[in-house]
Amino acid sequence: MNLLCGFRYVGVSSGLLRHRYQHLAFRQFRLYSRWRKETLPRGDGRDRSTGLNIPFEDHYKIRSHIELLIQDYAKKPIPPITYEYLTQYKSPLQNNEEYMLSIQTVNLLLCYTCRQLQAIQNLPYIVVLNPNIELANTLYLSTLETLLNVEYPYGLHHRDTMVSLLTNFLEEHQDTLTTLAVGFQEVMKFYDHDHVFRFLNLHLRNRISMKMLATHHLALLEQSDRFHHGIRSNDIGILHRDLKISNLVEQVGEFVNDLCSISYDLNVPVNIVEGHDVSFTCIPTSLEYVLTEVFKNSLRAHIERSNAENLLTQKPVEVTIVRNDNELQIRIRDFGGGIPPTVEEKMFDYSYSTVAEKKNDTGAEAYVLPGEHVNNVSGMGFGLPMCKAYMEMFGGRLDIQSLWGWGTDVYIKLTGPSKEMLQS
Ligand SMILES: Nc1ncnc2c1ncn2[C@@H]1O[C@H](COP(=O)(O)OP(=O)(O)OP(=O)(O)O)[C@@H](O)[C@H]1O
Ligand SMILES: [Mg+2]
Repeated sequence: MNLLCGFRYVGVSSGLLRHRYQHLAFRQFRLYSRWRKETLPRGDGRDRSTGLNIPFEDHYKIRSHIELLIQDYAKKPIPPITYEYLTQYKSPLQNNEEYMLSIQTVNLLLCYTCRQLQAIQNLPYIVVLNPNIELANTLYLSTLETLLNVEYPYGLHHRDTMVSLLTNFLEEHQDTLTTLAVGFQEVMKFYDHDHVFRFLNLHLRNRISMKMLATHHLALLEQSDRFHHGIRSNDIGILHRDLKISNLVEQVGEFVNDLCSISYDLNVPVNIVEGHDVSFTCIPTSLEYVLTEVFKNSLRAHIERSNAENLLTQKPVEVTIVRNDNELQIRIRDFGGGIPPTVEEKMFDYSYSTVAEKKNDTGAEAYVLPGEHVNNVSGMGFGLPMCKAYMEMFGGRLDIQSLWGWGTDVYIKLTGPSKEMLQS
């Protein structure tokens, strides 16, 4: 029995698969993907006509069934990922809990994937023609195919199946952000600004949620495994119960300084002025992402505005960490000249950046291994809007106060889960 039928019986997503065509669509989707594999260019010069010989009418039917399937899943309401969701199951997972979690994860990933596909399909034709946007679309189609191929019920019970499904998903989508960002930079001029903002804002927030669901699931499985080997974890999936914030700040500061060495051959000190001992319950990967982007901007401002008089590369960027019960606040203060008012209006726009040309080539980028992702100090214009998205997911905030001609203060505010949610 396949996953599509399976959902009918488990009840969790009752009403999800009401229509007969969906079952049909699944079988046709398999046929379609076989057809795609057979007929897409092989790159080895072999004749493409050797693939499945599907008459146009059948091909049309298959395509329209897949469209219906995508539309139906895309319409399903998706509850936001909250601390309640993340803390509903804790390690060690009982058998039925692991199974219920698998159903939830796969189900939500299916809905998100279809939403992403539908959103791309609704873009104007000229935009979808862009090879990078087309590539993002192909990746989501491939995810849909994988999710629909999970065998029910054994696939969902089988830990290895879930682990490989989620690991592959994370690997496959590692670069979708860069792919989409490059694509949108290329087509921006053909497309209305507000539409671009709405599309990217929703698309990237969905993408963050998808990634979070997969990593949370994998982390819970790993913590359960370790529990059975006698190693108790203090974490609940991606949620870290007691993260020492100053350690993370130091690590991120070092990492961004490594990037600065590659791009500029210069460094800027990062100084924690207050709050060395503060610990907080949060999602380290989200906070790490936001700190990285904020430091990239601050260190870049110090380096680019440094001269023989102000010696900004020697002046530290200052970090203050304060905790009040269930709220964490971090202020990052730089002295890099602030943000010009014209830039301030647009800094939360996707693809808005003041980076016009490539920075000095220090030659260091030549040493990055082929295929390894080079995380540049700046350039895509996705930094601040993505930080906002990450912060707002769990009721946090990101505020910026700039003193033009002097420097910039960035305020990060996080609210943690309640004590009750953390109890075993
Ligand atoms: N601390 C800062 N000091 C001065 N200007 C800043 C600061 N932070 C942001 N900005 C301005 O806001 C713009 C937008 O920032 P954002 O981080 O979104 O994009 P980016 O840094 O240009 O590219 P990306 O972050 O995607 O690599 C920057 O290009 C820069 O002009
Ligand atoms: Mg940036």
